[in-house]
Amino acid sequence: MVEEEFKTHFPSETVREGKAKALVPKLKAFVTQPSDYAPSKAPVFYNPVMELNRDISVLALQTHQRIVNREIFICEPLTGSGIRGVRFAAEIHSVKKVVISDISERAVKLAKFNVRLNGLQNCVTVKHKDANCLLSCHGAPRKRFDVVDVDPFGSPVLYLDSAIRALRNNGLLAVTATDLAPLCGVHSKACLRKYGGKPLRTEYCHELAVRLLAGCIATVAAKHDIGIRVVFSHSTNHYIRVYAEIGYGAKKADASVGNLGYVLHCFNCLHRETAKSLFAKRLEKCPACGSRMDYAGPLLLERIFDKQFCKLMEKENIHTTFRNSGKIAKLLSLAEGEAEAPVTYYVLDKISDELALPVPSVDAMLQILRGRGFQAFPTHFNSRGIRTDAPALIVQNSLQELVVAA
Ligand SMILES: C[S@@+](CC[C@H](N)C(=O)[O-])C[C@H]1O[C@@H](n2cnc3c(N)ncnc32)[C@H](O)[C@@H]1O
Ligand SMILES: [Zn+2]
Repeated sequence: MVEEEFKTHFPSETVREGKAKALVPKLKAFVTQPSDYAPSKAPVFYNPVMELNRDISVLALQTHQRIVNREIFICEPLTGSGIRGVRFAAEIHSVKKVVISDISERAVKLAKFNVRLNGLQNCVTVKHKDANCLLSCHGAPRKRFDVVDVDPFGSPVLYLDSAIRALRNNGLLAVTATDLAPLCGVHSKACLRKYGGKPLRTEYCHELAVRLLAGCIATVAAKHDIGIRVVFSHSTNHYIRVYAEIGYGAKKADASVGNLGYVLHCFNCLHRETAKSLFAKRLEKCPACGSRMDYAGPLLLERIFDKQFCKLMEKENIHTTFRNSGKIAKLLSLAEGEAEAPVTYYVLDKISDELALPVPSVDAMLQILRGRGFQAFPTHFNSRGIRTDAPALIVQNSLQELVVAA
C-alpha cells in the first residue's frame, strides 16, 4: 500500500525515530479544542512524546539481549502505529522475530504499512488480536517470548497475567502505566482495586507508584511460581515504566513475595520507614514526633534499579544517535547512583516550604549530609529530591543550617 492511500483515510505524515521511519497521524489535524489530547483523538494512537520511552526500551531490550546472548523473540501486543515494534526490529542486534498486534483494524493496517516501509516483513509479524488472546496463545513452552512489552492506555494490570505466562524463563517484561492518578494516591480506591496496594499522596509518590506496580507484577507472577527482579524503572512526564526479569521457580516466587512490604509515612514531621508487615506497625505512632503515621503498600521494597543493568544500558546509549541520548545518559547515571540508595526521597522544596525557608541547592544538601556521615544521592524521580538514610529531623536541620549560613 502506498503512503498516498493512507493519506486519503486520515491526515498523516512520515516521522523518523531512531533508525526507523513511520507513517503516523498528523496530530494537529485532530485537535479541535485546546484541551484535546491529540494522540487519543487520532484514528490510530501515536504519541511523539513517548519517543524517549521507546528509546529507553530499545536500550533495555538490547541490554537484555546481550545478557542472554542469543537471538530474541519479542512481542508488543498493543502496538498502535507499530513504531515501537518496528524500532525493535530495526535497531536491536540479534532479533529473531517481533510479533506486534493491536485490537484496532486501522492500527493494524498502519502497522503493516510501517513494517513494509522499513523493509522488515521478514522480521516483524503483525496480528489483529486482543492482547490477552495473543499472549495466551504464546503461553506454552517453545512458544514463549524473550521479551513482552506492554504499553497500553492507562493501566497495564489487565495484561500482566497473560504477559507473564507468555515469557520464557529469564525473559524480560517491560510495562508502562499512565494511570498516575490512582498510583499516586489521587484515586486511592482505584489503586487498591487494580494494583492490590494502597498508594499515598506524598512528595515521593512517583517512587511509590513504581513500587506498587512492581509489587503487583511480583504478586501476579508468584501465582505461576515465577519470581521477578526489577532491573530498571523510571518515572517520566505522565507515566512510569518498569523492566523486570522473570525467573521460574517456587523459591524465586517466594523470595519476590518476601520482598513486599509497606512504607510508613508521618505527614507531620516527614519521618518515613519501611516495614515487612503492618501487624506490629499499623497503630504505631511516629517515633520522631508521636503523630499517627499513614502507610502505602503492599509494594516492592527491594531495588527498582540494577546497577549493572544501568551500566550496560549506558554502554548501549553511547553508540546511538537518539535525539534523547543526552537526556537518557543523565537519567541512567542518576538511576545507577540511586540503585542501592535508601527507599524514598526528600524533596527540598517541600522541606523549605514547611520551614518557611529558601530552597538550597541539591549539591549543597548532598555535601552537608555526606559530611555528617549519612548516605546522600540525587534521584531521577525529582530534580530537587535527595535519597538519604538521615532521619527527617537531621535533613531539616541540615537544610536550615545551610540556608541560614548562606
Ligand atoms: C498507548 S497505545 C500503544 C502505543 C504504542 N505502544 C507506541 O509505543 O506507540 C495503546 C494501543 O492499544 C490498543 N488496544 C487497546 N485495547 C487493546 C486490546 N485489548 N488488545 C490489543 N490492543 C489494544 C489501542 O488500539 C492502542 O493502539
Ligand atoms: Zn512524625
